Amino acid sequence: MTDLSPFSPLSLPADFRWGVATAAYQIEGAVAEDGRAPSIWDTFSHTPGKVEGGDTGDTACDHYHRWPEDLALMRQLGVDAYRFSIAWPRVLPGGDGPVNERGLAFYDRLTDALLDAGITPFPTLYHWDLPQALQDRGGWPERATAEAFGEYASVVAERLGDRITDWATLNEPLCSAWIGHLEGRMAPGFTDVTAAVRASVHLHLGHGLAVRAIRAAVPGARVGIVNNLTHCEPATSREADVAAAVRADGHTNRWWMDPLHGRGYPEDMTGLYGVELPLRTGDLDTIAAPLDWLGLNYYFRNVVADDPTGPPPQARGVRLPGVRRTGMDWEVHAEGLTKTLHRMADDYGARHLYVTENGAAYPDVVGADGQVDDPERTRYLEEHLAACARAVREGVPLEGYFAWSLLDNFEWAYGYDKRFGLVHVDYPTQRRTVKGSGHRYADIVRAHRRRARRAA
Ligand code: IFM
Repeated sequence: MTDLSPFSPLSLPADFRWGVATAAYQIEGAVAEDGRAPSIWDTFSHTPGKVEGGDTGDTACDHYHRWPEDLALMRQLGVDAYRFSIAWPRVLPGGDGPVNERGLAFYDRLTDALLDAGITPFPTLYHWDLPQALQDRGGWPERATAEAFGEYASVVAERLGDRITDWATLNEPLCSAWIGHLEGRMAPGFTDVTAAVRASVHLHLGHGLAVRAIRAAVPGARVGIVNNLTHCEPATSREADVAAAVRADGHTNRWWMDPLHGRGYPEDMTGLYGVELPLRTGDLDTIAAPLDWLGLNYYFRNVVADDPTGPPPQARGVRLPGVRRTGMDWEVHAEGLTKTLHRMADDYGARHLYVTENGAAYPDVVGADGQVDDPERTRYLEEHLAACARAVREGVPLEGYFAWSLLDNFEWAYGYDKRFGLVHVDYPTQRRTVKGSGHRYADIVRAHRRRARRAA
């Protein structure tokens, strides 16, 4: 690989981390094994009409049994970091109460094997799989769920903290609160603004309690949170569309970032939601616990128009003509990644950033030659890595990139139809095939390392 243009990934810092990301319910399967109890996603996916094709995570990629093979794939790709999530319903099947040793042991084995392979584990404690037992007691709209999350964090950190330094509390709390409780397209499937706002605050509070618990259990821990932030733009220069873009930004970005940075919840948005925040004295300080790093999951830009009769934030997405779109119908817009990274560094003062997810779904097929040729994903990857390199060149403290995803997997309400993997999974046989984009990623990682070694 010889591309040394100013925004080539080869120009990224020598100690830049190269990773892949997954999440428990999307890949593990084995939902009733070794003491795991159902999560809200088991319930949701088994509810007719909620997931395309009636798909569920019952088997998914069977990673619970095939993880050694998946670890070998990571080695083949040459990555040095693996972002995965720990399934709360494996560790504490009741949400709180007795610890399920067999569930915890799975992550213990995985951690040891990753470290033996020279791959740094980056676990996320919550990637949407709330134990159903806690949902039955009210779920995230209830404060007790935040407190249970803090206790769960403590259990995991005490067990794995002798080997794991890098921790993420939540993945994309926006999706849990807004998509799960306001739009109803994800578990638990509510369409209730009061439940959504209460859930958002308790997710933040749970995060803060988990930060405290991890720090108490793991001296020297580096704790972060993963948000899916999006660059929001008005579809036209009409005043109403410009105002809609401000609201979309509040809903998508400021609501999730401001409280973490000691700014409280944005007043324009509390006014719009019209819901009393379930905050007690000291909660905002807990939520704003200092962080060691911030994770950004970036997929697309959000171009919006005013939608006065729509649900909050009363801004509807607009499809611009002539732009490339992925199989999710998401616009490909790598510049938005550079801009969002800048925003995190410039507006929020982030000093250590990771792109914790980035990737694209396309309808891949295994060719007659046994290969999976996916030039669109390869192009997406290259463009977004160039956007990372550009941000770094412009002074953004970006320290790593995790491709979403290692494997094709259960894409939530879209089921298995949407394939994000660098590695293709043939679900009936569970055969894995590294796609063209996976080979390209491996080439970039290796070329970057060679260059860094030469420069040292
Ligand atoms: O698959 C999801 C992941 O679980 C969270 N971030 C976005 C991905 C693609 O939709």
